[in-house]
This record gives sequence, C-alpha cells and structure tokens, in this order.
Amino acid sequence: MPATVVVGTQWGDEGKGKLTDLLAKEARLVVRYQGGHNAGHTIVVDGESFALQLVPSGVLYSHTVPVIGNGVVVDPAVLIAECEMLESRGIDTSRLVVSGNAHLIMPYHYELDLMTERFLGHNKLGTTKRGIGPAYADKAARIGLRVQDLLDPKIFREKLGVVLREKNALLSRVYNRLPLDQAKIEERYLGELAPRIAPMIGDTVALVHTALEAGEQVMLEGAQATFLDLDHGTYPFVTSSNPVAGGACVGAGIGPRDISRVVGIVKAYVTRVGSGPFPTEVDGEVADYLVDRGHEYGTNTGRRRRPGWLDLVMIRHAARLNSLSELAITKLDVLSRLETLKVCTAYEDTTDGTRYEHIPYHQSVLHRVVPVYEELPGWQEDLAGATSVDDLPAEARRYVELIARVAGVRVSYVGVGPGREQYVSFAAA
Ligand code: GDP
Ligand code: IMO
Ligand code: MG
Repeated sequence: MPATVVVGTQWGDEGKGKLTDLLAKEARLVVRYQGGHNAGHTIVVDGESFALQLVPSGVLYSHTVPVIGNGVVVDPAVLIAECEMLESRGIDTSRLVVSGNAHLIMPYHYELDLMTERFLGHNKLGTTKRGIGPAYADKAARIGLRVQDLLDPKIFREKLGVVLREKNALLSRVYNRLPLDQAKIEERYLGELAPRIAPMIGDTVALVHTALEAGEQVMLEGAQATFLDLDHGTYPFVTSSNPVAGGACVGAGIGPRDISRVVGIVKAYVTRVGSGPFPTEVDGEVADYLVDRGHEYGTNTGRRRRPGWLDLVMIRHAARLNSLSELAITKLDVLSRLETLKVCTAYEDTTDGTRYEHIPYHQSVLHRVVPVYEELPGWQEDLAGATSVDDLPAEARRYVELIARVAGVRVSYVGVGPGREQYVSFAAA
C-alpha cells in the first residue's frame, strides 16, 4: 500500500501532529522525514497533552513503529530525554527506530546557531536556536557526523577531531567564544549517549520498504511547512530542510511512486514564528483574539506567534508544490464569534496593479503586495462539540467550501478542538 504524506501548507504549527495521529489509526509506520527538535507537535489524548519534538506522532499507539528517517537531524540527548518523558507518562518507546544515516546535532551547532543570529542583528531569522541550520550546513559540506558514527568510536573521534579544529577556530577567532573540548564531547556522545541510542539504530529504508511491500500503511510526518522550505519558502526566513512532500522521498528513502496520498494541513488562519514576509498579518484586536483563543505560543520556545487571516494564495501554491490530494483544516473552532472573516484570494502589487494568484517568485514583490480579501460572515456557535458536517453552522461550511474551491483541492477533515476526537470528517461528502 503506498504511503501518505502529512505536510504543513503555511509557516508551521498547523496541527500536523494531531492529523498525523488521526491518520495513524491504521498505520504500521510513522516516519519523520526532515527537521529536528525545532518541531513541536502537540497531540491531546483524553485531556492529556503530549508535545513531541523528535519522536514521530505515531508513538502514542501501540500498533505503530515510530521511525526517525535519514533526513532528520538528531540531538541524541534530546531524543533520550523525550523518550524518558514519554515512558514516565506510560508511553512505550521501545519500538522507535532511528536511521543510522540521520545526522547528529553537535554542541558547536548550537553555538554557531546563536552566533550567526547575533551577527545578523536586526536581520536575524529568529531561529529556534536548536543548531538545525548549522547541522544541515555540515551535512551539505560533507563534514557532518551521523548517528551511525556513534557505533564506531574510532571513526567518531577521527571525524570530530577534523571538524572541531575548524569549528573551534571559527568560534574563538571570529565569534570570540571559548573553544569546545574534544574529550568532553567524546565523553558525552560516546560514553553517555551512544549506549542509550545504539539499540534504537536501524535500517529505516529497509523497514519502510518491507512495510510497503507487505501492503501496510506508512505515514510520513512532515515538520515545519511549505513556506519554511529551504527551496520553496520565503528564503532566507526558512528552515534548513525540505518539508515539502518531495522531501519525504529523500528523507525516508522512497520514490515518488510510493506515495499515493498527500494531506496538506491548513490552519483556518495563519501564524508565523520568527521573521519574514507575511502578507495577511494582522495586529490589534483580531490578532489578540486569534492568539488568545488559539493559544498561539510556540510549543518549543514559548514565543508569541504572529497571526493573520487565511491566505489562499499560499494554499493554492502549496497544492502545486506538494501535489496535495486533500486538505485537512484545523482550528476552525478558533474563528467562532468573529463577526466577519477575511480570506485572501489574491495579491495585488499596488505599484503596477499586477494581480497574483500564486506566490510571486521575486520576494521584493511579496514584501510589497497587499492582500485582496473576500469577506465572509462569521458564526457565533462554539464548534468544539461538532462531530459531523451537519453540526457545523452554514457560515462555517461556507468558509470550508471557499477554501476547497479557491485552492482547487478537496477538504477531508476539519478540526474543531485540540482533542484527538475533535474533528469532523468530510471524507464521505
Ligand atoms: P504542529 O507543529 O503542526 O504539529 O502544530 P502545533 O502542535 O505546534 O500547534 C497546533 C496547536 O493547535 C496545538 O496546541 C494543538 O493541540 C492545537 N490544535 C490542533 N488542531 C486543533 C483544532 O482543530 N482546534 C484547536 N482549537 N486546536 C487545535
Ligand atoms: P513545526 O513542525 C513553526 C521557524 C523558526 C524560524 C525558522 C528557522 O512545529 O511546525 P530553525 O530553528 O528551523 O533554523 O528556524 O523556522 N520554525 C518553525 N516555525 N513551526 C515549526 O515547526 C518551526 N520550525 C522552525 O521560528 O523562523
Ligand atoms: Mg509546532
């Protein structure tokens, strides 16, 4: 049975964790294919909230094998801490498998993430400071250490020695920081962490293909989102991996024909953490309403997320970039009680009147366009208890229909609350 990709269509925090969990009910494997612990995926089960960073969302079911694919960057200490947190709450993490080809986040990656942000000054990206960018940079520069290197102390020491010479020169001479001690890093990674991680390391590509060949369901869980994609996002205000569905092939080790379903997760409005262009950003009363009602603070960093109206130009573009087969809309409940809802259906460049139905390729244009809004009446009803399409007020249904029509992609689920059961299925519609 071919695989399903769950991908964010905006700037992250759309509710990918909740949807992955929902779709993993029948899945054998749930694979994270990129990113690292910059992600924060929340799943609420029976009122209990689980915030996951590295461990795939399928971990909460006993029938799934959570897999960390080769495309992910892994801080082994964070992975161990997350497993301990889950175990202490009664979740069995023993089935977790980590690709030996995944790259390691090292102590100097954190230092460099901090320093590059500091040097960028007011041009900073607002990263999560988790060493993500520097770890992917080393992967591309072919000086990264991989998870499998933890199994071979000789190789680990040799690679670390070479890399640390350069990193320490950079840290001390350019950034005026203290150099890092190789023996200490070895002691931590080889002495403390390797014995804990070793039992988790496996051949994840073989696992995925065995499952696919046996006709089992494989879920590919994206982190970050389409507009944080290194190639297709609002560069340089992006992350350093490829969250788009194509990235799932590379990051899990499958080909495009192994994927049959791509579910784009669309928050009913938009948020963004960190810097970068955001055409439909709002402030004032509506912003406070969305942030308060939607609890829009980073799962990881606690930062207030920047809110805005739903932008369908982005979703239309995301549909192309990911070949979306369906949409899942989340947090529709958050919009209750707003009198009028604005939805951006195009952009206009006021300098020459050009209208854009897709994201303009030149980012200077994206910075200066203004949204063309369609206004829809809101609804007063609380949606939290809705379990079928008929439970949604007509205005809420119209909002969903507009999204499907403008994006050109059908909607299969609508989220009406954070709980695992709080959704309405449009599958049969
Ligand atoms: P992710 O990074 O895409 O997995 O999303 P996050 O977990 O960072 O942020 C989504 C937040 O919205 C979490 O707190 C979820 O519990 C919550 N959430 C998800 N779906 C819904 C929904 O339909 N309604 C409401 N009110 N909250 C939701
Ligand atoms: P999930 O998976 C929202 C943002 C950061 C910053 C930029 C680069 O929970 O949706 P990085 O640390 O990756 O180098 O930061 O990307 N960012 C996210 N924003 N949700 C995320 O993950 C994010 N992961 C990174 O805020 O602007
Ligand atoms: Mg998140």
